[in-house]
Order: sequence, then C-alpha cells, then structure tokens
Amino acid sequence: MTIAPLLRAIAACSALALLPAAQAAEPVRIGLIAPFSGSFADYGKQMEGGVKAYQKLHGDTVAGRKVQVIMKDTTGPAPDVAKRLAQELVVRDKVDMLAGFGLTPEALAVAPVAEQAKKAMVIFNAASSIITTKSNYIARVSMTLPQISAPMATWAVRNNVRKVVTLVADYAPGIDAETAFKTNFIGGGGQVIESIRVPLRNPEFAPFIQRIKDAKPEAVFLFLPAGEQGVAFMKGFRERGLAEAGIRVIATGDLTDDHVLPAMGDATLGVITSFHYSMAHDSRENKAFLKAFADANPGAGRPNFMAVAAFDGMNAIYEALKKTGGATDGDKVIGAMKGMKIMSPRGPITIDPVTRDVVQTVYIRKVEKVNGELYNVEFDKFADVKDSGK
Ligand code: PHB
Repeated sequence: MTIAPLLRAIAACSALALLPAAQAAEPVRIGLIAPFSGSFADYGKQMEGGVKAYQKLHGDTVAGRKVQVIMKDTTGPAPDVAKRLAQELVVRDKVDMLAGFGLTPEALAVAPVAEQAKKAMVIFNAASSIITTKSNYIARVSMTLPQISAPMATWAVRNNVRKVVTLVADYAPGIDAETAFKTNFIGGGGQVIESIRVPLRNPEFAPFIQRIKDAKPEAVFLFLPAGEQGVAFMKGFRERGLAEAGIRVIATGDLTDDHVLPAMGDATLGVITSFHYSMAHDSRENKAFLKAFADANPGAGRPNFMAVAAFDGMNAIYEALKKTGGATDGDKVIGAMKGMKIMSPRGPITIDPVTRDVVQTVYIRKVEKVNGELYNVEFDKFADVKDSGK
C-alpha cells in the first residue's frame, strides 16, 4: 500500500474538522414510517406523494439546510416493525425527526422512541385521540376520529335521522368513532339500536351487512380505515339491497376517500360523510396542491387526505425550521409548532398550543357526479373543531 491515499484521507479529515460550516450544511433528516406494501400500501404512497408535491412547490432546502426524507415500509399493520424501524432511523440513520404513521397501532408503538430520543414526531394520519398524549414530542396535522365523528352525529340528528346502527373497525380509532358518534347522536335525541365492531384485518363483511339489514335502521354510521375495506363494504351493501330497504349510509370520509372513490362506483352516490379534506374543496391552495401532486407523481391517480396531511406536515416542519434557524432539537421544533397556523389545501388549520393536536373545519359532504366523475361535494361545515376524545 502506498502512503498517498492515507495522506489524502488525513487531509480530508482535518479539512472537515476545520470547517464548522460543513456541519451547518448537514441535511435535515426526516424518517417517514408508514406501510408501503400489503393491504395498507396506499397510505405510504399517498404520504410520499404529498411530500413530493410539497417539495415540488417549495424546494428541498429550508433555513440553509437540505431536507432529506428517508421512507421506511412497516408492511403494516405491524407495530413491532414500526418500532424497530424508528429505532434504526434514530440510531443508525441519525434522523432529526420522525414523521408519517398511517395506522394508530404503529404510531403508538413509536411514541416511546420519540420520547426517549427527544425527537419531534409529526403524525400524517394516525387518528385515534390518545396518540398525542403519549409523548410531548408528538404533533398531529391530520385529524382525530372524535373530531370527525361528532359533527356527523350532530348533522344526522339535525336532519331527522333517528335510528342508527353503528359499524366500526375494532381498534382504537374505531372505538373513538363509535363513542363520539353515540355521545352526540344519543345526546341529540337519536337512538343507536346496534353497535357492530369488525376485525381490523381482512374483515368478512357479509354477515355484518345482513345484521344491519335485519335491524332495519334508518341509517348505518360507519368508520373503516381508508382503502379496500370501504370498497368491500359498499359492494356487499349494494349486493344485499340495503339501499332498496331504505337504509342510508353516513360515515367518516375515510369510507369515500378520494383515491378509491372511482373504484367504488355509483353505489356511493348520495353517501353522506364528515371529513377534513375533499379533492373537490374549492380554494386556491387546493388547486395549487392538486397541480403539484399531479406534476410530482405522474400516474399516481388521485391524492387523498393522507397526501394532504403529508403536504401540510412538511409545511409545518419547514415553518418550524425557519423559526428555529435550522435547529432540529426536538424541544425547539415542537415548541415552534405549538400554536402554528397553516393554510392547508383543506382550509386553515392550527396546531393546538396545549395538546399539539390539529384544530380545523369539519365538512359535511355528499357523493355526487361532477363532470361524470365521483366526488365528495362539501355542502355544510363545522368550524374550529377540536378533538373531543381526550
Ligand atoms: C388509524 O389507524 O389511525 C387510521 C387509519 C386509517 C384511517 C383513519 C385512521 O382512514
């Protein structure tokens, strides 16, 4: 071995040591944890699409530092995998913050990692109420199930829906949705004649749909995690003739998420949902978002609420880094996010300074055809809604 490469290496090291600027130029590393494969693969893809749309519009540098997003696939729902990935991201990849989280059990598994490592953890979807109480380093820019479900109940009683069956996925967000819906619906004079909970993994809907039909409610209130499950439910609902039996569907907007809505077909026409984002939301910010998403993600199809939350989450991170002058210390980043107001494609949102949870308008929407395509058309709203589940 000649001495030259060694000398060169030593020279390179000492040059780096003399350059404090080299450290300031280190990228900000964000570890994005979500399912990118398996039956919830869309969650990761939507979030990635939202991140790309944000960086398409705002670049990949903020406060003088490049922003690098490292995506990790949980294959979920897999809380153990999510936790291991978070630990690897912190220890090996030296990430400055954690983000993503499509599913509540994965967010809950990672919360102690963020707490211990003192890293900001920004939730792009996971929506059971309790998550933000699990670490002071967590901020949420998406929604919570109580926040969305309570207005649906209020709207239903005001509009003469009196007798309902509830059906939810049997895990924390589903229980949150059921509880918040029942509280407001029964409180408003309505009657819940049956409450059905279905497994999170691979539910077989046929027997549950028959139970709904037999109970003869005026409507079924539904929370199912976005994606394939809603498609399967609506297929069974149509095949068993529930609409013909006079049963309406009211649901959280996870059911008719913009990405899967075209595949659900005309059986969804007239379905009423409550939610924080619709692709059909009429605003300048939403138009800019839809264009950036399409430009940055050719062939990806429609963006949904998870893409929007990822877009807004990146916005919150960039704005926080501007305030901290590029410092990524967890206390400083979360401190900068407390009370932050963001003009989202969905409308204005605030990160509550005390709970670090999102405060926003909840819209009531109806599935309609616009120019021959299915959309969730907003027709009523509840302003400044906080999470009511804590
Ligand atoms: C969640 O697990 O928190 C979750 C997943 C999908 C949704 C909403 C909430 O559509």
